[in-house]
Amino acid sequence: MMPTTGAKPQGASDEASAARAVREMFDAIAPRYDLLNHVLSANVDRLWWRRAARKFRTVLADPDAEVLDICCGTGDMTMALLKRRPRGARPVLAADFSRAMLSRGARKFGVGARKPGQPYAVPLEADALHLPLRSGSLDLIVSAFGFRNLANYEAGLREFHRVLKPGGQLGILEFSEPGGLVGKAYAVYFRRVLPAIGRLICGKAGAYSYLPISVGNFPAPEEMIALMRAARYEQCAWQPYTFGIAGLYTARR
Ligand SMILES: C[S@@+](CC[C@H](N)C(=O)[O-])C[C@H]1O[C@@H](n2cnc3c(N)ncnc32)[C@H](O)[C@@H]1O
Repeated sequence: MMPTTGAKPQGASDEASAARAVREMFDAIAPRYDLLNHVLSANVDRLWWRRAARKFRTVLADPDAEVLDICCGTGDMTMALLKRRPRGARPVLAADFSRAMLSRGARKFGVGARKPGQPYAVPLEADALHLPLRSGSLDLIVSAFGFRNLANYEAGLREFHRVLKPGGQLGILEFSEPGGLVGKAYAVYFRRVLPAIGRLICGKAGAYSYLPISVGNFPAPEEMIALMRAARYEQCAWQPYTFGIAGLYTARR
């Protein structure tokens, strides 16, 4: 059975097939992912990652803080988090279930890619819905443009709640669909221009048609906040970025 809230890639009939379709899609586009991202967003994504990391500067500045970047992909959110870690800090955990995405990420944030003493991240091949981590062990979980792809949003929120310490923080950076004129212009770009460019650079039709569909299916900010509250998070909030094209959900366990 498909959950009421979760990614629904074309052809998927249940949670397992939805997760498999998402993983295979990211494995396939991994070699072109960074290039596409920067072309399609005109590098605005860099500002979003940095801004999201700045929101958590206090916890990131604590060398003992246990931090997870879930759905880290090729690691640009992880790199923004690392910029705010002091020298000698505990490594950030960077997890993803697509080996092709994660291995590209590890080339940027892994210990071998960093100067001696520089903060680094440990790659972890894992499913966000079944994290191989102890309950109550993390101070911060961040996810950038990954949460929308989970096969079951409630299950994702529950799993993050399980592994966070009491008082631990959650940050979910996601696209959204702005209203008004900006929304209309953006919808044309997102639904028509973006899939065409994606097809051109990637040679794959599916992935960048899936993107606007998945954003359209994703709960609106007030619904997402209701899901977070129902999953027993506190101080749930949403901060729109760039006219509400994207935004950061924040909460505490
Ligand atoms: C759009 S990319 C975002 C990557 C990166 N965070 C960024 O901001 O560029 C989404 C990533 O989420 C990963 N992902 C999707 N569902 C996942 C799951 N259930 N468990 C782990 N990773 C998942 C995909 O493999 C992909 O690498």
